[in-house]
Amino acid sequence: MSAVSGSDFPREGIPEIVFAGRSNVGKSSLINRLAGNEKLARISSTPGKTQSINFYRINRSFMFVDLPGYGYAKAPKEEIRQWRQLVDRYFEERPAVVLALQLVDARMPPTRLDLQLSGWIERLEIPRMIVATKSDKLSGNQKAIQMRLISGSLSGQPVTMSSAKTGAGCREIWERVLKAAAAGQPRMRDE
Ligand code: GTP
Ligand code: MG
Repeated sequence: MSAVSGSDFPREGIPEIVFAGRSNVGKSSLINRLAGNEKLARISSTPGKTQSINFYRINRSFMFVDLPGYGYAKAPKEEIRQWRQLVDRYFEERPAVVLALQLVDARMPPTRLDLQLSGWIERLEIPRMIVATKSDKLSGNQKAIQMRLISGSLSGQPVTMSSAKTGAGCREIWERVLKAAAAGQPRMRDE
């Protein structure tokens, strides 16, 4: 299901694994790859297409949550404001988030907005995994260099290289997701 405002958020109370990152980084593609279903989340070559928060129930036991991307240069101010409000509300209110997958592009250093999101997730004390996407576009040597660079700018957090194209990194991501979902009794609202 799809939410454009906080009142649309589902109330199922099962663990949520949230995919966050800038527009076009590959959130929807990775969700599809992990789920083994190319038609689940919509992919588009036009950045900024996913404007709503999309919830995908996986095996009735947890949700993948596809956040709208940020940092889309051409977005009008009003759209950026709405984005902030929606994502803010999601992070502040969702009691069931057990893991945040923070996606960054493997080919470049994290952007200012990536660093902001990182600080945000840290302050909320949500467990997270840094995933560097589109690793199929890098050579082995470049991967090693980029991993160090990205990790260095994100306070030394481990970085997992992934590719929705080749499936690289998906096993590690699944392991982490399943562990988080199994351990994660969602925090209760108003607790
Ligand atoms: P928004 O919904 O706009 O926030 O974007 P998104 O983060 O969901 O990105 P999306 O999955 O739509 O992918 C954006 C573009 O990158 C598409 O053209 C994808 O085909 C491409 N892409 C995504 N993942 C990979 C990958 O692992 N490798 C390569 N080569 N291309 C990828
Ligand atoms: Mg998307």
